[in-house]
Amino acid sequence: MKVIAFLNPKGGSGKTTATINVSACLANAGKRVAVVDTDPQMSLTNWNSTEKAAFDVFTAASEKDVYQVRKDLGDYDFVIIDGAGSLSVITSAAIMVSDLIIIPVTPSPLDFSAAGTVVTVLEAQAYNRPVEARFLITRKIEQATMLSVLKDSIANTGIKAFKTAIAQRQSYVKSVFEGNSVFDTTDNAAKGEIQILTREIVDLIE
Ligand SMILES: Nc1ncnc2c1ncn2[C@@H]1O[C@H](COP(=O)(O)OP(=O)(O)O)[C@@H](O)[C@H]1O
Ligand SMILES: [Mg+2]
Repeated sequence: MKVIAFLNPKGGSGKTTATINVSACLANAGKRVAVVDTDPQMSLTNWNSTEKAAFDVFTAASEKDVYQVRKDLGDYDFVIIDGAGSLSVITSAAIMVSDLIIIPVTPSPLDFSAAGTVVTVLEAQAYNRPVEARFLITRKIEQATMLSVLKDSIANTGIKAFKTAIAQRQSYVKSVFEGNSVFDTTDNAAKGEIQILTREIVDLIE
């Protein structure tokens, strides 16, 4: 069993969208996947209201639930933690239990400082237990200056980024709104990038 957490206290960085789509991709490949919603606004829990997802969704009431995932959800192949919208004790708990921390970041330069706080917590906790970490560029638009600023900011942290980015696409917005993933749409570019990203993730931790 592997635990992956999508963490960035900045709301709108694409945590929930990435969680849903990577989890759907793993589940479509026959993996048993549990998603843990740690956001007090329960966006993922609400998204799953029709319960048609190919993975199970659990709601963490507090950081105690997060500390328990290895025990409580040990029957799953993958446990994916969707991070909270603020830098909280949940972030520390998720770092403690995870095999891989993914920090989604958008090319908006003003948004990067929130991601930096995750790096700080990671470095502080690395003393107890080093954990693999990667940035994930989300909502990517082909705007060269913004992308190079983002890549410089990432490089300054010393943490690598995934080669695959998630592009800004209407199919992500629409499918999540409808309680689905991009695998329920005809957007092959979106499906392709999620498949390649999921392969990168699995190769890193398996
Ligand atoms: N790749 C994407 N393309 C287009 N819109 C996106 C993408 N990822 C996220 N969004 C939109 O951005 C907003 C925030 O995304 P969300 O995944 O909820 O972020 P977070 O969980 O970090 O707050 C939502 O309206 C979502 O539909
Ligand atoms: Mg969210």
